[in-house]
Amino acid sequence: MIKKPRGTEDILPGDSEMWRKIEQTAHDVCRKYGYKEIRTPVFEDTALFSRGVGDTTDVVQKEMYTFEDKGGRSITLRPEGTASLARSYIENSLYAGPQPTKLYYLISCYRYEKPQSGRLREFHQFGIECYGAENAAADSEVITLALDFLKSLDVKGLKLNINSIGCEKCKPAYNEKLKNYFSSHKDELCGTCQERLEKNPMRILDCKSPICHEIAAGAPKMIDHLCDDCKAHFETLKKYLDELGIVYNVDPDIVRGLDYYTRTVFEITSGDLGAQSAVCGGGRYNGLVEELGGKPTPGIGFALGIERIMMILKNQEISLGEADTPDIFIAAIGDKADIAAQKLVYLLRDKGVSAERDLCSRSVKAQMKYANKLGAKFSMVLGDNEIEQCAADIKNMSTGETASCGLEPDKIYEIITRKG
Ligand code: HAM
Repeated sequence: MIKKPRGTEDILPGDSEMWRKIEQTAHDVCRKYGYKEIRTPVFEDTALFSRGVGDTTDVVQKEMYTFEDKGGRSITLRPEGTASLARSYIENSLYAGPQPTKLYYLISCYRYEKPQSGRLREFHQFGIECYGAENAAADSEVITLALDFLKSLDVKGLKLNINSIGCEKCKPAYNEKLKNYFSSHKDELCGTCQERLEKNPMRILDCKSPICHEIAAGAPKMIDHLCDDCKAHFETLKKYLDELGIVYNVDPDIVRGLDYYTRTVFEITSGDLGAQSAVCGGGRYNGLVEELGGKPTPGIGFALGIERIMMILKNQEISLGEADTPDIFIAAIGDKADIAAQKLVYLLRDKGVSAERDLCSRSVKAQMKYANKLGAKFSMVLGDNEIEQCAADIKNMSTGETASCGLEPDKIYEIITRKG
């Protein structure tokens, strides 16, 4: 038997209702904040991610699904949404509209990671990106939107961690300090990090190898080496959050695993997630649009992992979205009734009612058993008598009450939509 690829999941009925509710909440919250939906291709030119995400990151070096297409182009399944959105922002001249451009997305992402609880090879993100706003008010708005979304889902016990990782002005001097620090531990670092030492020492800070991780704990922190502008930006963000009553923790160890970040970085974690505790990650990326060929444009955004949201909801026993059950099941005995049931179901569906009938030639007893299993709210049984007399009983499946009604869809509709 062919099985699903490792690190992927089928989203089955029972869970899909919750997914739909999560997605609807994302649409609703984004509408309040003025973010508009964007959809971009699942695959992109590989160069977009090596340039955008950074070719010394784990994502680009180890985790991308890259292949050559039949035309000899190098193609990559998107490992995240930010680089794709920046490309689309430039390619579609979205900068020509009123700024900032505020966009959101619900996407699947692909990373060849070692699958474990909360870490998949195909996963889904709800993310937002805001282009053209330099002000820390944008940082505060982006963080608030993420928290507002999670609050709308009733999720409890979250922690917001923020940090600043500087800009092109203060990063080079800090990188030198890091290089000095890690050089004295060079032989202990993993092979990848020994290479990173020259090219991009900041990446060693979020290496997944336990030894590198231990060494990184003693490294100088960027937050202690910010330039005055970055310091002021971070202070303003904190002031906004304080004013809004948003509780946060400044965590100097957050560096994020993607290269495009400048200044603010943040993560939202949950104790219900185990080792992969981040449900949301984001930050500012003031150099990304320019790196990808656009005009210098500030940007900031985040992405939330939907599978991780599902894990939290299940651990906290929060159930969203009712299971879909039919409003009415129409059982039929005999050929004439069979045709009448087919027609009635069709006409009721046309009125917006969820109506079901037997499609497997069951006995009437088995049809009613099936109606029960489906959780039908009402049922009717049609036989020769009912068809001849144009009259039948409609039964409320939870109270057992019956009422007589004709075979008129309007009358049936009136009964099943009656309140109380
Ligand atoms: P990220 O931290 O790589 O950031 O991913 C964001 C979220 O996606 C994580 O917090 C997690 O919930 C989920 N996630 C990541 N990898 C996996 C995985 N292998 N399995 C399941 N869930 C996963 C980004 O992707 C950035 N593009 C976020 C961003 C947007 N920054 C600025 N704008």
